[in-house]
Amino acid sequence: MKAPPLFPALAFLLLHFLSSSLALPTHGHPQCGDLPGSTLRVFHVSSPCSPFKPSTSLSWEESILKMQRDDQARLQFLSSLVAGRSVVPLASGRQIIQTPTYIVKVKVGTPSQTMLMAVDNSNDAAWIPCSGCVGCSSSSVFTDSKSTSYKNLGCKTPQCQQAPNPTCSTAGSCAFNITYGSASIAGNLSQDAFALAADPIPSYTFGCIQKTTGASIPPQGLLGLGRGPLSLLSQTQSLYQSTFSYCLPSFKSPNFSGSLRLGPIAQPIRIKYTPLLKNPRRSSLYYVNLLAIRVGRRVLDIPPSAFALDPVTGAGTTIDSGTVFTRLVKPAYQAVRDAFRERVGNLTVTSLGGFDTCYSVPIVVPNVTFMFSGMNVTIPPDNLLIHSTAGSLTCLAMAESSGDPLNSVLNVIASMQQQNHRMVFDVPNSRVGVARETCT
Ligand SMILES: *[C@@H]1O[C@H](CO)[C@@H](O)[C@H](O)[C@H]1NC(C)=O
Ligand SMILES: *[C@@H]1O[C@H](CO)[C@@H](O)[C@H](O)[C@H]1NC(C)=O
Ligand SMILES: *[C@@H]1O[C@H](CO)[C@@H](O)[C@H](O)[C@H]1NC(C)=O
Ligand SMILES: *[C@@H]1O[C@H](CO)[C@@H](O)[C@H](O)[C@H]1NC(C)=O
Ligand SMILES: *[C@@H]1O[C@H](CO)[C@@H](O)[C@H](O)[C@H]1NC(C)=O
Ligand SMILES: *[C@@H]1O[C@H](CO)[C@@H](O)[C@H](O)[C@H]1NC(C)=O
Repeated sequence: MKAPPLFPALAFLLLHFLSSSLALPTHGHPQCGDLPGSTLRVFHVSSPCSPFKPSTSLSWEESILKMQRDDQARLQFLSSLVAGRSVVPLASGRQIIQTPTYIVKVKVGTPSQTMLMAVDNSNDAAWIPCSGCVGCSSSSVFTDSKSTSYKNLGCKTPQCQQAPNPTCSTAGSCAFNITYGSASIAGNLSQDAFALAADPIPSYTFGCIQKTTGASIPPQGLLGLGRGPLSLLSQTQSLYQSTFSYCLPSFKSPNFSGSLRLGPIAQPIRIKYTPLLKNPRRSSLYYVNLLAIRVGRRVLDIPPSAFALDPVTGAGTTIDSGTVFTRLVKPAYQAVRDAFRERVGNLTVTSLGGFDTCYSVPIVVPNVTFMFSGMNVTIPPDNLLIHSTAGSLTCLAMAESSGDPLNSVLNVIASMQQQNHRMVFDVPNSRVGVARETCT
């Protein structure tokens, strides 16, 4: 399969999307309010509660192609992390991290300023565009001068050693920068009060972004839920014990919100778990042990090497919240696709961008089961298929990760396949739990 081509016209739409109105919604939609305790609402970026929903509505095809293109950049980013090598970004480096898919409300500073930050379980750091930022797309940045609790961290602090490319400013504070291809992000390492749902966190370390070149960061920031240093997990260890879960709402029903539940309390008790695996070269990613895939009742003949964790190449399977459609390496994807097509009854297939298994007639689909070590997860049709609004096209919503020009060795269980499931990340016990749940 050839990877989806880039669509220059859509690059414009993306720019438009990122710079669209950022005012907080003023109407009191029932799904937009706060939840009690240690639970944050999770909004899809195009939900009525999100200020980032596109001001011009894309056609169904355009929005699918846009999501595929964002995924391509995301997969390239994840691959560059695991392979520890610099890859020249495809889309001229615009999505240095991710295009936000799901956002949560975080209160920052004293008095607090509300930021709608993208959640990303494959990144560690929290980043917020700060006032005066050159190149940030957003008009609603964090105004550090209005917060009495804001401070820059010194360059001798242990946190500064964990920042990417740390440097010492003349004033002795810690600055950092990240370059990715021709794109870069630079900022100060800072601390301020965060409030996550009802929980105050007096001094949270984050990157206060001062400058971006050729890169887009989520408009109001990024909240990293990875496992590495400087992540939410490591900074709130005593409060949340490195445990959280999320339920991601479907992007087909924009009025629904999901939840991000922090800490071990109120997590589901009877739930299936699979062990977490660790790649020492990229400790923040949530690798799991995918053993096989079943289509209908047939376990597919896929070589174990397609799934095996290889710390050197970064091969293996991760669970990621920032990729939309699941990606599988060639032998795995082709086996799934062929079995799916056969079960559907060998009908004529068409393609839509990177999706190569689309039908323009109604189909009856088999269940697809991911067989992890200790846990089988059956993906219902809602998580497997996308349907055009007019109902004329249905596609298998997965793609190959190893095609040109990416040549990624990574399998990514992505957000569409996680929607309406409670995903529990239990780091102290080194396991991930999955249970069906309707996110509301
Ligand atoms: C990025 O950091 C390196 C040192 O780690 C420094 O030499 C370079 O000037 C920095 N670039 C920017 C744009 O701040
Ligand atoms: C970032 O650090 C530089 C150098 O110390 C300083 O001039 C600038 O005001 C800082 N910005 C913020 C938002 O703290
Ligand atoms: C979502 O909510 C809006 C406003 O409350 C309403 O007009 C619309 O019909 C709802 N859409 C769906 C799919 O329920
Ligand atoms: C689909 O085609 C394959 C290979 O040509 C064949 O083995 C299989 O029986 C066909 N299945 C159906 C349902 O027609
Ligand atoms: C898919 O699985 C569900 C329950 O796991 C079952 O009820 C349903 O019959 C299955 N569908 C097919 C086509 O096998
Ligand atoms: C997963 O399903 C297979 C049958 O396809 C079964 O043999 C295996 O025991 C199941 N694994 C778990 C953990 O339930």
